[in-house]
Amino acid sequence: MKIGAIQLEPLFGEIDRNLELARNLIMKSDADLLVLPELFNTGYVFTSREEAISLSEEIPHGRTTRMLCDVAKEKGVFIVGGLAEKSGDGIFNSAVLVSPDGYVGRYRKVHLFFEEKLWFDPGDEGFSVYDTGVCKVGIMICFDWFFPESMRALSLMGADIICHPANLVMSFCQDAMKTRSLENHVFAITANRTGTESRGGKSLHFTGGSQITGPDGRVLFRAGEDSEETGRTEIDVKSARDKELNIHNNLFTDRMPGYYGELVVKSL
Ligand code: ACM
Repeated sequence: MKIGAIQLEPLFGEIDRNLELARNLIMKSDADLLVLPELFNTGYVFTSREEAISLSEEIPHGRTTRMLCDVAKEKGVFIVGGLAEKSGDGIFNSAVLVSPDGYVGRYRKVHLFFEEKLWFDPGDEGFSVYDTGVCKVGIMICFDWFFPESMRALSLMGADIICHPANLVMSFCQDAMKTRSLENHVFAITANRTGTESRGGKSLHFTGGSQITGPDGRVLFRAGEDSEETGRTEIDVKSARDKELNIHNNLFTDRMPGYYGELVVKSL
């Protein structure tokens, strides 16, 4: 199958324009699974919770999820993309998975970064893996990468491909994702955004470098730092299912949770 990352620069609050841009880029790609950045429809630098709420949408009935479902059907592609989700009094930094047959599921970002903690509620549904029929997809969002437990949990749940919408502002993720892919023996698609957003006296620069990594830790695609581009690569998804490192070591069955103490103690 062909998997891809769409790297683009959303303009803050210009949802029509951002959806149109994403739609055009999806239509031009021949990938079977595409990942868009975190908050690709709204931009990132909110100045208040009210502003974030005003730009948020219900999932799956909001316009962004509907647009993604429409284009997924038209193009016959699976798509993961990030958006601000309104749900009752709650607001989440979420991502949806849609298929040619419609909405599949969502993930609400668990590990909120910096001022996201002022605008969003932490995800309350945990991590999920979705079976597309061709591959099993796990979703995490940007800063989740900093917590190896995110990708480990998704991998132990059976994910073959980790879809990772991002708005990265630091430079460490791409290197770390090689290890995350290697230690879990999974593919990972990090779709980052580019550009600088300056709002409310704050300015954030997003670092591009969207990346696809393979189960052996190799980089299969890396985008430029500033370019709008769609990278894609052909993969054999079955290669993510073999967790044997050599004839004596299996990445999953060799784990020793009994010795991991705090790591496996459940606390929310
Ligand atoms: C981030 O989580 N957007 C850095």
